[in-house]
Amino acid sequence: MKDEAVDKNLVTQLDTAFIRKEPYGVVLIIGPWNYPLQLIMVPLVGAIAAGNCVIIKPSEISSSTEKLLAETLPSYLDKDCFAVVTGGPAEITQLLDNKFDYIFFTGSPQVGKIMMAAAAKHLTPLTLELGGKNPCYVADESDLQNVANRLVWGRCFNAGQTCIAPDYVLCSAETQEKLLPALRSAITQFFGPDPRESPDFARIISDKQFQRIRALLGSGRVAIGGQTDEKERYIAPTVLVDVQPSEPAMQEEIFGPVLPIVTVPNVDEAIAFINSRERPLAVYVFASNSKLVRRVLDRTSSGGFGANDSIMQMTLISLPFGGIGSSGLGSYHGKFSFDTFSHHRACLLRSMGLEPMNALRYPPYSERKMGLVLSTFRIKHTGTCTLL
Ligand SMILES: *[C@@H]1O[C@H](CO)[C@@H](O)[C@H](O)[C@H]1NC(C)=O
Repeated sequence: MKDEAVDKNLVTQLDTAFIRKEPYGVVLIIGPWNYPLQLIMVPLVGAIAAGNCVIIKPSEISSSTEKLLAETLPSYLDKDCFAVVTGGPAEITQLLDNKFDYIFFTGSPQVGKIMMAAAAKHLTPLTLELGGKNPCYVADESDLQNVANRLVWGRCFNAGQTCIAPDYVLCSAETQEKLLPALRSAITQFFGPDPRESPDFARIISDKQFQRIRALLGSGRVAIGGQTDEKERYIAPTVLVDVQPSEPAMQEEIFGPVLPIVTVPNVDEAIAFINSRERPLAVYVFASNSKLVRRVLDRTSSGGFGANDSIMQMTLISLPFGGIGSSGLGSYHGKFSFDTFSHHRACLLRSMGLEPMNALRYPPYSERKMGLVLSTFRIKHTGTCTLL
């Protein structure tokens, strides 16, 4: 948080130049329902660390957590600086009519556009933590049981309602044949013969989300799972095969425990497939050949990247977390949160000395002055000749 001294050029040698990290002012944090505590509290910590006041808007869909935050947060935070606002779209619309100094939104790309339009009205800077379909390329020679374990864990954690979960698998037809029994075995090992009985397998947040995900089971063919129970909002860990890129399961972010597999002949086709779509929050690759991993890393674009695992890159606070393109704008976690919620103010405190040097830049101009400027400031070091 300290002022950060920076390099100076020749004419500012006697001066003080630094970056001051200042709070933006009043920040609006809008959280989603899938990790209703984490995705409010983690940005909130960054906003507080940077010295801002915060209006906190938890999702009304995860209503128990919304209630908990509204009841408990105010007893821990200064009421002059922090407030929790509850309610749905009508309340958010009303909230967004106000001028904030920063908006931090986590949610869908669709609502992200509404946020950005609302922020534009007041020229309010914002961070958008959105989502997308995270591709996962599985190379032919991979250790497929380990791959399956890590895929099933990433896909089924929180019943798939995770923005950086692997959304679909790209692999060859031969790899698909070997991967299917490994996926089946991982599901059984984690959740038992009937995942519905498992205390470690979650349910879908709402009826609306349940209906949406259940409809996706019509894409391609169910190879594993596929069972649903509307009353419980249960959807079994499911793997879809023979899915066409034009089918619904390949058109929207799945956000449920459903993993489609799309077959591609080779890694270059997989890269072309990834690049023909919106830039995702994460690209994942499983391969024993590290050149192949580098190839996918070099030739694709995404918020983050993971080799040989999914989700784990977000556990490092030394890495920025955020999307690119339709998966988001800006990033946070660890020090990146502090920077996101700070304005970096460029400060130069000049001394009043060395006025003859300054006289060179004052009119009236002459050939002689120009010559002096050029000779005095013909500096060999790069980056220091920025007087004019
Ligand atoms: C991925 O795992 C495989 C199998 O353990 C290993 O050979 C490979 O080097 C790993 N890839 C990277 C990029 O570390």
